[in-house]
Amino acid sequence: MSSSSLVALRDLTFIHDAASEPLISGLSVHLPVGFTGVVGANGAGKTTLLRLVTATLAPSSGTVDGVGHAVYCEQRTDSPPAALVRFVEDWDSDAFALRGRLEIEPDFVKRWDSLSHGERKRAQIGCALWQHPDVLAIDEPTNHIDARARDLLCDALARFQGVGLIVSHDRDLLDSLCTQCIWLEPPNANVYAGGFTQSRAQRQSDHDTAVAERKKAMQTHRALERELAQRRERAAGESARRSKRGIARHDSDAREKIDRARVTDGKSGAALRQLAGRAAQARARLDTARVDKVYETGIWLPGSRSRRAKLFDLAAGVTALGDTRVLRHPRLTMMPDDRIAITGINGAGKSTLLQSIAAVVNVPPAHVITLPQEIPASVAIRLLDEVRTLPARELGHVMNVVSRLGSRPQRLLESALPSPGEIRKLLLAMGMARVPHLIVMDEPTNHLDLPSIEALESALVDCPCGLLLVSHDQRFLGRLARVRWHIDVDRERNSVLIPA
Ligand SMILES: Nc1ncnc2c1ncn2[C@@H]1O[C@H](COP(=O)(O)OP(=O)(O)OP(=O)(O)O)[C@@H](O)[C@H]1O
Ligand SMILES: [Mg+2]
Repeated sequence: MSSSSLVALRDLTFIHDAASEPLISGLSVHLPVGFTGVVGANGAGKTTLLRLVTATLAPSSGTVDGVGHAVYCEQRTDSPPAALVRFVEDWDSDAFALRGRLEIEPDFVKRWDSLSHGERKRAQIGCALWQHPDVLAIDEPTNHIDARARDLLCDALARFQGVGLIVSHDRDLLDSLCTQCIWLEPPNANVYAGGFTQSRAQRQSDHDTAVAERKKAMQTHRALERELAQRRERAAGESARRSKRGIARHDSDAREKIDRARVTDGKSGAALRQLAGRAAQARARLDTARVDKVYETGIWLPGSRSRRAKLFDLAAGVTALGDTRVLRHPRLTMMPDDRIAITGINGAGKSTLLQSIAAVVNVPPAHVITLPQEIPASVAIRLLDEVRTLPARELGHVMNVVSRLGSRPQRLLESALPSPGEIRKLLLAMGMARVPHLIVMDEPTNHLDLPSIEALESALVDCPCGLLLVSHDQRFLGRLARVRWHIDVDRERNSVLIPA
């Protein structure tokens, strides 16, 4: 692809069959060489847009021109990429270097089911880059991956020479890679120059200007309408006085006076019509002075402290990590108001440890909120079906939380496949209704949009129940965890947990 070529989206519209409103409406934008960021709330259509551009989904109308060989690098890590076998078996120096850079092993194909999600993510990205596509659409590449892998990945993406589209909640990554960002707010999409920070500032300033313009348009419209009403009232009074009814047929003086007044009345009639015209114009200006609706966000988590002495007590042990490796841990206990972070590199065994802990949790399941690292599409669909059958009051509560976490309830309820972020919000909302004593979250900030991460973080700070968190997001952990259980990996790639 030459450096001058670009991809053009023309009047692109997409609406799901079952949906009442389009997700994307009339989007026209050029995608130059380099990365364009795609930003928006969970369920706003980011994945949908990436799939439209890479032709893995057909638009309802409009076109995407200039796309040659396109690859969509998936958000979900459920299944191995189709090209993985060819990639790991390619002994070309380029493939070799890429595998080395992203630490991808040939046995990843065989071990896919037991790979950590971070390892799967690296494999997906390596595979996509290896194909040297003209257009690369990459969906949440930093989900699940540790700090070292993130650096490797940033380096690999920065070398990409084609047209890139990227969805990420990693603000720094967007800032370092993107020359423009598309902000999705269904059905609208706006394009701003720069990475996340620059485009957000421009968007905010556009919003402030729009609010100020709308306010001015409203004031002008009100003033004109008021003046118009007063003049009409006055004119109606005058015309009643100028009526010839009740004047004697031979009183020619009075009739002449009224006729003279009607001539001037014609002039003020024209002035009145002009004023009405100006008021109509002001109304039209007001109607077009659109300001995007800002939804109220922020949640309160009604957790409570369990009366049990301990939330769990796991005896010291050795757990298998696949066929050849093990995780050793000492006795691990959790008190009712402990806030514990489990950390460690990809593949260290954090999620495996969570599974061992889940087996000994001493809290009734109804009072545990568990947000797993990944939720397969089939489970997501089943959960949404369950929610749809909730009694109206409960459904109202759940949807209120979803809305306060920044996603649109109606779109979610109409969905055939909830997005990864939407389904996490649903799980959280359903758990909140049952007042949790323990919240277990495995990489909760993956897939969640930024405003909802902030809302969740603030809600968890004040929540009195136990918190057990696995995350690579140091900001999130720094604010929430008091205790760290770090899993180290030794030279033989065995893991050992060291409480700090
Ligand atoms: N077949 C479908 N019918 C109706 N709605 C659907 C269908 N599939 C997905 N949706 C909805 O379309 C919207 C956009 O989904 P999409 O996956 O593009 O969102 P996203 O912005 O990528 O979200 P996330 O940040 O969680 O990844 C969501 O509300 C989703 O629930
Ligand atoms: Mg998505």
